[in-house]
Amino acid sequence: MFKAAVITCSDKSSQGLREDRSGPYIEEFLRDAGFEIADRIIISDDKETIKTNLLHFTDERGCDLVITTGGTGFSPRDNTPEATKEIIRREVPGIGEMLRAESYKLTKRAYLSRSVCGIRDRSLIINLPGSPKAVKENLSFLDDVLDHGLKLLQNLDADCGEEG
Ligand code: MTE
Repeated sequence: MFKAAVITCSDKSSQGLREDRSGPYIEEFLRDAGFEIADRIIISDDKETIKTNLLHFTDERGCDLVITTGGTGFSPRDNTPEATKEIIRREVPGIGEMLRAESYKLTKRAYLSRSVCGIRDRSLIINLPGSPKAVKENLSFLDDVLDHGLKLLQNLDADCGEEG
């Protein structure tokens, strides 16, 4: 069973000014997919805070997967991609490309998300946009690649020639 953490990056939600519906949705999606949830937290958009929490779930808690939601757009406080880039060791550009390309079929604004995906040691980190709608859509596209990617990352037996 893979272990995952969910981080909502939002100044408003972290101050209790906006209900976080995206984090709980990701948690439910992952539980349904058979993940163990290490934790789900809500933090501010501060870059150092995001880095500290990413490092907590990767290095200290040994999560296989960390999904963030929020802070991938253009506003001055959107820092999630930068925080992620500073701690990953290997970038996985294809996942972000795929999410944007699939999302573009649903909304032209998809390419406004600067979301990053990358690997830190044995942990995969994926940024998702912040809105519940965007999260639901993006998770549906991830479904096909998560399990296979995580198996490869953990050096488990994974047959690349076999779909599903
Ligand atoms: N992707 C999907 N699938 N659906 C959406 O509604 N919204 C876009 C984009 N990606 C959206 C999406 C919008 S409007 C923005 S501004 C960016 O994600 C960044 O969102 P964030 O700042 O909440 O991370």
